[in-house]
Amino acid sequence: MWNPVAPDIVEHPHPFWAWLRRESPVHPVAGAGYFLISRYDDVLHVSRDSQTYSSELRAIVQRDDAGRARLLQTRIVGQPQARVLGVADGEVHASHRRVVGRTFSPSRMERMSRLALEIAERCVARFEGTNRVDVVAALAIPLPLELTTRLLGLPLEDQPALQIWTDHALRMAGGLASEEELAEDLAQTTAFHAYLERRFDEAMAHPGDDVLGDLARAVRDAERGEAGVARWEAVAILFQLVVGGIETTVGLISAAIHHATHQPELWSRMRDELEVVASFIEETIRLDGPAIGNLRRTTRDTELAGCSLPEGSTVALLWGSANRDESQFPRAECFELDRPNIKAHLGFGLGKHFCLGAALARMETRVALQALRAVAGGIALDCDPAELRHKPSMGIRRLQSLPVSISPQKSAAPCRPRSG
Ligand code: HEM
Repeated sequence: MWNPVAPDIVEHPHPFWAWLRRESPVHPVAGAGYFLISRYDDVLHVSRDSQTYSSELRAIVQRDDAGRARLLQTRIVGQPQARVLGVADGEVHASHRRVVGRTFSPSRMERMSRLALEIAERCVARFEGTNRVDVVAALAIPLPLELTTRLLGLPLEDQPALQIWTDHALRMAGGLASEEELAEDLAQTTAFHAYLERRFDEAMAHPGDDVLGDLARAVRDAERGEAGVARWEAVAILFQLVVGGIETTVGLISAAIHHATHQPELWSRMRDELEVVASFIEETIRLDGPAIGNLRRTTRDTELAGCSLPEGSTVALLWGSANRDESQFPRAECFELDRPNIKAHLGFGLGKHFCLGAALARMETRVALQALRAVAGGIALDCDPAELRHKPSMGIRRLQSLPVSISPQKSAAPCRPRSG
């Protein structure tokens, strides 16, 4: 019998997902009180029907001491109610989305794109003179960490602390931490929240041209009785942006470079063919998207794929499984750049909760690939593939490290990645 939280299944979930799609598309996890939804059409249906499938829940899947899955109801630090952005419905959700959507304006994204390029070039410049690099530590982490820090308007010297705090917040949500680790995660997450509150209060006094400043202005608007958000909501939104924006992008950049090590002919084409880079990223998200799954709760009795789901049922949408569904993606296990529906994957979700950072994450991954491509004529995995491990988590899938060997760029002509 499959156990969704067994370490080998968490590391290699694909055979389990294939079994689910074939045999049990709405799968009750024994004794755990939730269902796994694995087929493309069903995940699509649930994502679109936010009336029946609410995001307003605070629950995480945990592995208990006996190694079994269980659903844990949680409360989030500093949040009076579980109703903020990713875990809100209806008008509350729409109002948070409007505030965050405004802060991701095209002009700011353009500025971020130039900044991303600077950061990525700085990272790959350090590869000179060495032919073995762990690209997770040397590129995939520093790029989104610094970019997100700047986008939000947090001090650059806070990056090491932000990295530690996001690690703890994600380990807590990742469902595989021991009791002892959970206690540590909770303490660190509380400290993280207090830090964000402090930074937020500074921004209220001096709002800058960044996300913190925008959120501070939205709080002022609400205080004047206009459309905006409360202070606690602004801080919770900040929390979601930091925690949801960094590790996911680290995962995507790492997975894309990992795929590149298998595809020397595509690596050559990535130098000049921008559309190859774009499709390469979409196929990486489809096959190895970092978001594993998100939960919903039914607001009424309903039926899915012939199975009854009583009101109050919790379901997990397995984006990664849906993305390997043969009915939607023929030869789903193959990396194919010429798929007519290459962007139909659900790696960034779908519907009202579609990822707000999708364009940012795609841009960062493109810039990372191009900066690396500019210095590396060839790239190869520099360890036994069986040694590669993902961080243990049921929330976000990302490689712990990715040692690669790099052969220098032969051409004398400088190849600068393009911004924008
Ligand atoms: C490769 C990188 C990323 C992946 C794979 C990813 C994946 C996802 C997915 C699957 C959802 C939908 C969740 C649901 O339906 O319950 C989502 C929502 C969200 N993502 Fe991302 N994400 C990424 C990067 C980012 C970045 C860079 C940011 C921001 C800086 C971000 C911010 C958000 C927010 C705020 C939401 C909630 C949106 C809402 O509920 O309306 N994400 N993301």
